[in-house]
Amino acid sequence: MSAVTSERLDLSDVQGLVVRGYGKLPCAAYVLVHAPEPDGLRQLARWVAERVTSGAESPTDRALNVAVTSEGVRALTGWDELPDGFSEPFRTGMDTEYRNRILGDTGSNGPSGWLWGRADAEPVHLVLMLYARDASTLATFLEEVSGQAHAGGVRVHRVLATDELSDREAFGFRDGVSQPTIAGVTDGPNPPEALMPGEFVLGYRNEYGQRSERPLLGRSQDPDRMLARDRSGAPDLGRNGSYLVFRQLRQDVEGFWGWVDEAAGGDAAASQHLAARIVGRWPSGAPLVLAPGADDPSVADANDFGYHHTDALGLRCPVGAHVRRANPRDSLPPSPGTESSLRGVRTHRMIRRGRTYSDGDEQGLYFVALGANLARQFEFVQHGWLNGNAFVTLDDVDDPLVGARAHGPSSFTVPEQPVRRRYRDLPQFIQVRGGAYFFLPGLRALNFLAARPRGGTD
Ligand code: HEM
Repeated sequence: MSAVTSERLDLSDVQGLVVRGYGKLPCAAYVLVHAPEPDGLRQLARWVAERVTSGAESPTDRALNVAVTSEGVRALTGWDELPDGFSEPFRTGMDTEYRNRILGDTGSNGPSGWLWGRADAEPVHLVLMLYARDASTLATFLEEVSGQAHAGGVRVHRVLATDELSDREAFGFRDGVSQPTIAGVTDGPNPPEALMPGEFVLGYRNEYGQRSERPLLGRSQDPDRMLARDRSGAPDLGRNGSYLVFRQLRQDVEGFWGWVDEAAGGDAAASQHLAARIVGRWPSGAPLVLAPGADDPSVADANDFGYHHTDALGLRCPVGAHVRRANPRDSLPPSPGTESSLRGVRTHRMIRRGRTYSDGDEQGLYFVALGANLARQFEFVQHGWLNGNAFVTLDDVDDPLVGARAHGPSSFTVPEQPVRRRYRDLPQFIQVRGGAYFFLPGLRALNFLAARPRGGTD
């Protein structure tokens, strides 16, 4: 499928987070709320709907986006059952026995160590995502939001405050360099690497040329025609929405650098090189494929590269490096280096919008990823490529940076000539501290959900 022929996204109905990371708004907080009474939740949702930031805006003062869990959709609508078109991972949630297993949320990553999002705890209904140009604007914004929540009897379950935005994650590496390009966001022809909008936004064609699965309602459920209609005339609750993965990931910064320094024999340059090989990019962001021996800030933004033709054996960037696993680009079997390999990878991309946090002695990443298909994008990458036991030519190892170590300590192989080097007993550097799946509705859908109880899902 060629993205050149893609439809234009209706940015005025899409929440802003889909198309921008709000880089001009460096202060942010995520407010998780729970409402004992649905009326209060609807009241808060209506207040949010009047202020929500769309993709057509380019805010410089503050921005507000909102996403809802499946419990939140149930509470808002009064539906016992969600419409089938909502995807299975969203409907059943992140904390199930099956998902714990495939996502690696077992042992020290397991829900018993989560601060929020556990299936047996008070459910989170909404996450309000607040962005502001400075700390005092954020503080005022937070007060306003909390006041509004309390007025309707809604409990603020947790406020997840982020660090002021920097381009580095907690281990010291530049993050957010590689993002998928979405077709149909701007006028004019799309670049060849652009992905069909339906990969990220519901109601548009995806890389398979199909409109992504989404919740469609019976006509009687939307008598006021608040929602867009699909081609068959069904009210389209999914249109211009997306799914949002939220994971609180604690990073053991001391443990990471301690292990790296020791493994590198205490030599500072060797430590930097080993850490960069684990990530697949240098601290500046420069990809190892283009800068194999030393950091090179002149290629810090580079994204136009592959692995197979330049580095099939991983002599520059190890095959097991985090970025190479998370996006193998042209090196995916069974036909690496071919068009079909590139095509295969295109269906497993995600938009990353995470921000770092420091909370007492804990620091880490609020990992936020958007996509139209939770199973084929986030879950596939997490399960098959990062935590998978067999990735390309690697057996019995998981991602050296973020792997769950679900099968005990892992190893990391650095291909070198004449002999490769294998580092054994990699400890776990990342611990899951909470998480949930959300639906990020389009603006019309948000107004619909906030309006009033909806009766059955006929
Ligand atoms: C605390 C945990 C994590 C840290 C510290 C981390 C760090 C990084 C860094 C430094 C980069 C390189 C910069 C860039 O390309 O933007 C990167 C890229 C990436 N990460 Fe992570 N990451 C984490 C968790 C995850 C998870 C859980 C996933 C997916 C399930 C993921 C998926 C990706 C993807 C898709 C890329 C871009 C690869 C590319 O397109 O070349 N990361 N990460």
